[in-house]
Amino acid sequence: MTPRPVVIDTDAGVDDALAILLALRSPEISVEAVTTVAGNAEVHQCTRNVYAVIERAGSSVRPPVVQGSAAPLRLPLITAPEVHGAGGLGSLVPRLMKRPARTGTAAFTIAALARRFGNRLTVVALGPLTNIARAVQKDVRAMRSVGRIVSMGGAFRVPGNTGPVAEFNYFVDPHAADIVVTSGLRLTVVPLDVTQQVMLTWDNLCTSVAKLPARRRTWFHRLLDGYMEYHALTEGRRSAYLHDPVAMAEAIRPGVLSKVRTGIRVETWNGPARGMTVFATLPAGKSPFVATGVDHGNWKILSRRIWR
Ligand code: RIB
Ligand code: CA
Repeated sequence: MTPRPVVIDTDAGVDDALAILLALRSPEISVEAVTTVAGNAEVHQCTRNVYAVIERAGSSVRPPVVQGSAAPLRLPLITAPEVHGAGGLGSLVPRLMKRPARTGTAAFTIAALARRFGNRLTVVALGPLTNIARAVQKDVRAMRSVGRIVSMGGAFRVPGNTGPVAEFNYFVDPHAADIVVTSGLRLTVVPLDVTQQVMLTWDNLCTSVAKLPARRRTWFHRLLDGYMEYHALTEGRRSAYLHDPVAMAEAIRPGVLSKVRTGIRVETWNGPARGMTVFATLPAGKSPFVATGVDHGNWKILSRRIWR
């Protein structure tokens, strides 16, 4: 079966890194480009991190990397070093990039791929939606032709992870998120309600990487150590939510997640509810899908590809 073309937009942080490994090791898809957006870390750090993950994946295919938005559409950038480490990849410090990232804008690249592949393309957005919103503003017709846009973001019936009600990606750039969820794209939103159904414990990690060469084991431990310590503080156990790999699994194998179709809006006012996602009534045909559950059997099969 011909692999489906995919573009990954990422604020390459710890869980993004695992999602990118999963994508590069999945024969169902072909990663045509990776675009970066500020979020977990500064955008230049995210770009450097993407190169490090592509190198670690060890695949012969090395997709082009295009650096994107350094800040949200309107609000100042907020990063998450306390979660993902000072550089965004835990305690890993990637070497400086040998190949400069493509200098074209990420939005231009995403819109160009949308025009090239149309409904065959899947866009997987793992960070704040700044680049995606800019691509919609550049060429909404092309973006509406994209087969699927999968966005990890939002929180509906669970508390937020960034303040009481907001999920981090939609908190960082609520204006971009509200543009994307109301633009009539073929969008699937994968919220905390679903991604928090999948948790990796330190013991799971150690078992998953036990048979790997020491260098690879150490890579995963250094990537995830600090992220798990953060969850030990917030969740009471040394563990990790795999937000982005869960969203990536849906892009690789549609149907891994159960979904409902419903209108949503994002609070853009920079107050206590900034970034909150709420159910709303949108004009016919404008409502995205929102994931509601995980097929854990399918997830387990796919996720094994990460730990190589
Ligand atoms: O809220 C979780 C999301 O925010 C994940 O994508 C994580 O990488 C951060 O970007
Ligand atoms: Ca992310």
